[in-house]
Amino acid sequence: MDEKVRKRVLRMIPYGLYVATALHEGQVAAGTITWLSQASFKPPLVMTALKADSYLYHQVKAAGAFAVNILGTGQKDLAAAFFRGAQVQDGKLNGYAFEPGPETGAPLLLDAPAWFEARVTDVVERGDHTVVVAEVVSVGLRNPEAQPLLLQETGWQYGG
Ligand SMILES: Cc1cc2nc3c(=O)[nH]c(=O)nc-3n(C[C@H](O)[C@H](O)[C@H](O)COP(=O)(O)O)c2cc1C
Repeated sequence: MDEKVRKRVLRMIPYGLYVATALHEGQVAAGTITWLSQASFKPPLVMTALKADSYLYHQVKAAGAFAVNILGTGQKDLAAAFFRGAQVQDGKLNGYAFEPGPETGAPLLLDAPAWFEARVTDVVERGDHTVVVAEVVSVGLRNPEAQPLLLQETGWQYGG
């Protein structure tokens, strides 16, 4: 397999941008992710791939649940604010206002146009990212007019 072509081919898979969060024993984790998809209608499942050595995955696994904040077009700065770990200061998460998710307590960013919470059903620990399958247990729509932020819009790459 030609590695350069592999990289180009895999980078043609389109993605959105999200801030995933989790809360376990009072400790918040958060990170910007792209590798996310719905995986079943009934029950409503999603799957995401989380960096196996990240604090985010550690806390998602420990909590057995997480929240996904769906970012809107133009929210590149918000996405960039969650490439590093999570810090709660003055009631804000990495500088952004949030509220606890009703089902899991995981932070929901008030600026994100939509969100959902999910409970982990399965994990596949295989590569450098772990595939997490989870059932959606609550949803919220703050801005029905918003269009999702796509990886292509940001000029960033994650894949290959
Ligand atoms: C464009 C981009 C996309 C990313 N997508 C993912 C992803 O899908 N899954 C993931 O676990 N990390 C992803 N990351 C990495 C996380 O944003 C970041 O490394 C992580 O939140 C920090 O982990 P920590 O919890 O150890 O601080 C991505 C990073 C970038 C720059």
